[in-house]
Amino acid sequence: MSFPANPFKPTAGVMPPVLIGRESISLDFREGLEDGPGAPDRLMLITGPRGCGKTVMLTELGLIAKQQHWDVIDETASEGLCDRLIARTAPKPGKISGATIKPTFMGASIGEIDIAPALRPASLRDAIVARLHVLGKGKGLLITIDETQDASLEDMTAISTAAQHMLRENAEVAFVFAGLPSLVSDLLNAKVLTFLRRASIKELGDVPLDEVRAALASTIRNAGITIDDKALDLATRATGGYPYMIQLVGYSMWRHARRRDGGMDRTILEQDVRVGVEQSRAKLGAGVCAPVIKRLSERCVDYLKAMAQDDGPSSTADIARRMGETMSYANGYRQRLLDEHVIKAPVRGTVDFAIPFLREYLRAEYRSDDGEA
Ligand SMILES: Nc1ncnc2c1ncn2[C@@H]1O[C@H](COP(=O)(O)OP(=O)(O)OP(=O)(O)O)[C@@H](O)[C@H]1O
Ligand SMILES: [Mg+2]
Repeated sequence: MSFPANPFKPTAGVMPPVLIGRESISLDFREGLEDGPGAPDRLMLITGPRGCGKTVMLTELGLIAKQQHWDVIDETASEGLCDRLIARTAPKPGKISGATIKPTFMGASIGEIDIAPALRPASLRDAIVARLHVLGKGKGLLITIDETQDASLEDMTAISTAAQHMLRENAEVAFVFAGLPSLVSDLLNAKVLTFLRRASIKELGDVPLDEVRAALASTIRNAGITIDDKALDLATRATGGYPYMIQLVGYSMWRHARRRDGGMDRTILEQDVRVGVEQSRAKLGAGVCAPVIKRLSERCVDYLKAMAQDDGPSSTADIARRMGETMSYANGYRQRLLDEHVIKAPVRGTVDFAIPFLREYLRAEYRSDDGEA
């Protein structure tokens, strides 16, 4: 017998074999649906860095809603978001209030409608009301918006105005927005969106390592593959609890084991884990870290390199000293990096990386510089 198909999914938006460490969010949402209109978790805001699992979380919440016989509409923010949402929500697209329907619309391509911005909130409300009417008693409508940080202020204003009214009228609706951490500061600072500040905010952080270990073990062993505790520990630690890395490490070590000796022994060995981890780091570096670094000025990268000398949060005074800059100069770079969400300031006077594995990437990439910094 040879190796079974690789169960790990290191691909954006694709459901992992086990959704690790997110039970409490699922539970909050499920209860929100069960508790009826007015439940706080019917308006949710999911935030976190790239690869932390926002999109799959939206998929998971959609599945929960479908189990309760709700309809689900998933959208991703980009130009025309609100119009697309209206077109997909309305049970009879021909009857959307205020809409000019482009000819292609009748030919099945969704979203080809034009609505004057001022009419959008009312049109969306009408569409939701009509949809709920068709759905009938006891059923509701969940709308999820992914990549919300890319939504225009106009679209967000229209959607949140409609959402606010529907929730206030105790309609059977739920809204979940997902986006990068910048979302909270950018959108919620806009006056028109104060309503969204009342959303239940879920920050997707790292997954606890004991849960990572248990999930790796069950995924591997349930497939009839052997792995010993030492190899499992090694793999678990290498993930750092970062969801994308969990899938990368799982996938890469599985692939290496399958190719070794034709996969006849059905075992993942320590050597498979080691190679897998190395390949995963390279992939993460090239796919996530390198593009971030490329966008930054040389001195901003120097700031990050100075931070990478620490194992945890850095003191801003230390960084300035390492860079040979005055505090006020260093603060300029600090601010730019904060604005770009590359770093965060967990406590006054300190900074830390906001992108998983960026520290490790910088250390590996600039290893030769170590001596001179
Ligand atoms: N809770 C989890 N447990 C295990 N793996 C996960 C979990 N959440 C996400 N993943 C995996 O992590 C990867 C990234 O997930 P996803 O695309 O949902 O992240 P994201 O936050 O939407 O990223 P982006 O900001 O780039 O859109 C996928 O390979 C997915 O299978
Ligand atoms: Mg995503």
